[in-house]
Amino acid sequence: MAPVAVRTTGAVVAAISVSLTTLSFFLYNYKSKRKSLVSPPKRKKARNGLIDAVGNTPLIRINSLSEATGCEILGKCEFLNPGGSVKDRVAVKIIEEAMESGQLFKGGVVTEGSAGSTAISLATVAPAYGCKCHVVIPDDVAIEKSQILEALGATVERVRPVSITHRDHYVNVARRRALEANKLATKLQKAEQTDGKDTLQVNGDCSDYEKQDSAFSSYCSGGFFADQFENMANFRAHYEGTGPEIWEQSGGRLDAFVAAAGTGGTVAGVSRFLQEQNPNIKCFLIDPPGSGLFNKVTRGVMYTREEAEGKRLKNPFDTITEGIGINRLTENFKMAKLDGAFRGTDTEAVEMSRYLLKNDGLFLGSSSAMNCVGAVKVAQLVGPGHTIVTILCDSGMRHLSKFYDPQYLVQHGLTPKATGLEFLGIS
Ligand SMILES: Cc1ncc(COP(=O)(O)O)c(C=O)c1O
Repeated sequence: MAPVAVRTTGAVVAAISVSLTTLSFFLYNYKSKRKSLVSPPKRKKARNGLIDAVGNTPLIRINSLSEATGCEILGKCEFLNPGGSVKDRVAVKIIEEAMESGQLFKGGVVTEGSAGSTAISLATVAPAYGCKCHVVIPDDVAIEKSQILEALGATVERVRPVSITHRDHYVNVARRRALEANKLATKLQKAEQTDGKDTLQVNGDCSDYEKQDSAFSSYCSGGFFADQFENMANFRAHYEGTGPEIWEQSGGRLDAFVAAAGTGGTVAGVSRFLQEQNPNIKCFLIDPPGSGLFNKVTRGVMYTREEAEGKRLKNPFDTITEGIGINRLTENFKMAKLDGAFRGTDTEAVEMSRYLLKNDGLFLGSSSAMNCVGAVKVAQLVGPGHTIVTILCDSGMRHLSKFYDPQYLVQHGLTPKATGLEFLGIS
């Protein structure tokens, strides 16, 4: 009998242990389900539409440059903005200030004379405000640029490239188009108030441009010239946005900031904000070939007479970088608080872009590459142990036809050949 009893006891024990395992499995499942019912994972607040997705970009450590220099080199990832560049911030601020001050209304048109990132950013964000965008560009600008703008819903006017002093320079035409849109809006309003007035006649009266194309005709509630170079909303976008974000993200622990300037909005807004928080933060400009700003910062003289903007009929080949470098002093740049400036070469920018791609997987545009050249130059000046911040303005995607085109680089003697950072004297 004993073996039977043993067998029976064994079977009972086995049955109990199976039931216990099953029970504990169910209990565990019940508990975790209950837990997830009681406290679901915290949901981050969704950003409110496209405009809310602009800014608050990550500040990342650029590992390769930090290790090579012994400094912490941090880059603000502006290429992650919805319109692909740092200019989204400026576009938002320009439109918001214009609307707040009653200079632009829903149904209005924002005009800009630019083939660059600002135009793309304005075209990207304008619809979110119920506005249109009209861009005037020189007709020798790469056709993809107008294709992008048109795909974004902007109207594009291509004009003959002439000097800035000429009334038909694309910037002057853009300014005029805004005035014309305003005149049109006034006439449309009057026409609405006058019974039987023919709207088509009103449109026809308005401008030369309108006779060819009715970009403003059907919806126009007025125009506003964005004027990124002189409009101080540009500076404020960085003084109130980019600067405070850098300060917060770095926990206020930074020693230097460096960036190149086109309009000067970024370097001015960020440098002024940072120096107001801590006057010991050193701020620098990195200037590409052909620009007069290095001279202005280091010697107080902007340019020679021959180089003055307006004297050149058409830009000679100065630099492969785009969006940076200028030969006049803008209202935005005047707000910068700078401790010094460096010159950067095209070779350094091209080599830096390939170095960052190879070592960090960062695919950056030409101005970002130049900014990183600036960051290394600052590191060499201040020495190891410091934290240096710069701006990663846009990605390499918009620079395929020049900066990332091997044939173009061969033609300009810029084919990259460095294996490390030897082009900046680091072995
Ligand atoms: C790609 C890119 N990077 C940098 C800049 C320079 O920035 P800022 O105009 O604020 O000086 C520009 C200006 O147009 C730009 O388009």
